[in-house]
Amino acid sequence: MVTTLHTNISGINFENPFLLSSAPPTALIENIDKAFALGWGGAVLKTITPDDLELHEASPRYTVLKENKRIIGFQNIELLSHQTVQYWCDGIKFLKQKYPHKVIIANIMAPINKITWQTLVRTLDQTPVDGFELGLSCPHGILEKGAPLAVSTDAQMSAQITSWVKEVTQKPVFVKLSPNVTDIAQIARAVENAGADGLSAIDTVAGFMGINLDTLCPKLNVQGKTAFGGCSGPMVRPIGLRCVAQIRQASALPILGQGGISSWQDAAQYIAAGSDAVQVCTEVMLNGYKIIGPMLKGLQTYLENKGFADISALKNKAVAQICSHEDLPKKPLAYPQVNHEACTRCGKCVMCCEESEHQALQLTDGYITVDKTRCVGCGLCGLVCPASAIHAGSN
Ligand SMILES: Cc1cc2nc3c(=O)[nH]c(=O)nc-3n(C[C@H](O)[C@H](O)[C@H](O)COP(=O)(O)O)c2cc1C
Repeated sequence: MVTTLHTNISGINFENPFLLSSAPPTALIENIDKAFALGWGGAVLKTITPDDLELHEASPRYTVLKENKRIIGFQNIELLSHQTVQYWCDGIKFLKQKYPHKVIIANIMAPINKITWQTLVRTLDQTPVDGFELGLSCPHGILEKGAPLAVSTDAQMSAQITSWVKEVTQKPVFVKLSPNVTDIAQIARAVENAGADGLSAIDTVAGFMGINLDTLCPKLNVQGKTAFGGCSGPMVRPIGLRCVAQIRQASALPILGQGGISSWQDAAQYIAAGSDAVQVCTEVMLNGYKIIGPMLKGLQTYLENKGFADISALKNKAVAQICSHEDLPKKPLAYPQVNHEACTRCGKCVMCCEESEHQALQLTDGYITVDKTRCVGCGLCGLVCPASAIHAGSN
């Protein structure tokens, strides 16, 4: 059996499912050229806006969350593309001529006005762009001009803009959804009913990274002030996976999954949760376009080892197992299994179990014992064990 990473989404052929998401790595044509040469399957362009929309950036505009010197989270207060619409039209033509098999999706955003939206789409539609992504979901910036968070949290307004765009293009239209809503599935259904061909999820998660306790200034310190920003990178992956699976349960539309993807394993999980392809931003900003090499190789090898012919065999594989809490089996309890050879007798599991209600573990005569009359099988002991000596059901 020959395994391929090729896929087709809404009539667009993707040589592989890895796209650069709309962000700084897709803000310049010459950089996208470089990324395509390294193997990226496509690019969603940094959000294009009408030329007369003024954008004033703050400085600095990024901050991070680190754990053991590794960046696990990123926060930005950046706005949209600073290039003109003509720059993008010329650039799309150039890239499509050089790389006819790479996918180019134009992410667009405009103030809430039918003519403005449709003019932007009509102009870009005359280029060989493969499709559109509606940037309705950025959690910060230019709210007073009616865009974009105000839109992505409002199902009716999101649907309205989707239908304006659909009226003037035959090309596939993906709507980028915000995780900063109570019910993402409701917004997904609204834009699907308005004619969307696909969905992108998630945009950044609204956040406030922290406070410097010496100066009492916010971590994203713009001359002593800050604004809530958009968080991305590994720390948002659980939110992204939840959103993608939730959308998949509500809609059969193609999903371009994203949010904290930094390896092929993350991408594979997004596909199993319901994505048709994936997008990456923060990991590229931190480690460069070359990360695509191991991602392609890793996903290809994984599919081969699983006996999957392509990513459609992996898609949705984890979705059927996601149910309501009410429908979860409540018995038998997942009692902890202790590996006494690996156990260092540090007592951490005993302390955590005791002080988190259940008091079911004891260190007696050098051995951890489990009192099954008290144990509720919550799994905490296995999670906190520094020696991985307790298997408690959770993986
Ligand atoms: C610095 C920065 C700028 C971004 N700019 C845009 C943008 O212009 N338009 C957009 O739709 N999303 C934008 N995003 C969101 C990303 O496209 C992506 O949806 C999000 O970061 C989650 O993916 P990640 O965890 O791989 O970064 C931006 C993200 C970052 C970090």
